[in-house]
Amino acid sequence: MINDYLISAKNIRKNFFQGSKELEVLKGIDLNVQQGEALCILGGSGAGKSTLMHILGTLDSPSGGNVYFKGDDLFAKSDEDLAKFRNKHLGFIFQFHHLLSEFNALENIMMPARISGESKQDCKQRALDFLGQMGLSDRASHYPTELSGGEKQRIAIARALMQSPDIILADEPTGNLDSANGNVIRDLFLDLQRRLNLTIIVVTHDQKFANSFPKTLHMKDGLWV
Ligand SMILES: Nc1ncnc2c1ncn2[C@@H]1O[C@H](COP(=O)(O)OP(=O)(O)OP(=O)(O)O)[C@@H](O)[C@H]1O
Ligand SMILES: [Mg+2]
Repeated sequence: MINDYLISAKNIRKNFFQGSKELEVLKGIDLNVQQGEALCILGGSGAGKSTLMHILGTLDSPSGGNVYFKGDDLFAKSDEDLAKFRNKHLGFIFQFHHLLSEFNALENIMMPARISGESKQDCKQRALDFLGQMGLSDRASHYPTELSGGEKQRIAIARALMQSPDIILADEPTGNLDSANGNVIRDLFLDLQRRLNLTIIVVTHDQKFANSFPKTLHMKDGLWV
């Protein structure tokens, strides 16, 4: 039953049109993820991993198929309701941190709360707590250009946690880091999953990174293999 899962995808297809040519990128993907699961999606370049993550995160719609959250058909919602859904339930982490360069670390972490209408006063302490959990209390006033790659990624994780999401979607979160910093990020994810019973879906092309996760699905040419 789809209601038994936190997030479920059924027969997801995605085609892109390149002029008159149609490119089949996702060819019928099913996925069932339970609350508190840490799932790794492993696959080579061009397999369709980011395309799937964008669809699971409702940042892009599928050409066919459905995504359910606690049994709710997400793409039946209006754009406005989907934006609210993302803000409340999802935390995104990308390969390139996507921090806003004109805001400092603390302001970047507060951003999702500010967007949802919370005052600075109300969300500042929470943001400081997450900053502390990432071991970066002394970097609050640093702008993204004044942070290392690993630090930027930890700020992005704190930002993703800010609204207490149900699911963290992370697309190649360690793609730009050396292996030591990559391990720090990996351990942070696994700790969050254990400590907060957070549901995590993380994409990688790195078998070694995937080995640390309790469950891995392999994707090739838009299908599980
Ligand atoms: N907007 C688009 N228009 C046309 N083709 C696209 C578009 N987005 C992705 N593709 C194609 O879809 C395929 C899958 O892309 P996707 O970004 O999902 O791969 P990926 O598995 O994330 O790869 P990587 O590991 O390199 O990030 C690629 O061949 C890509 O060229
Ligand atoms: Mg990708």
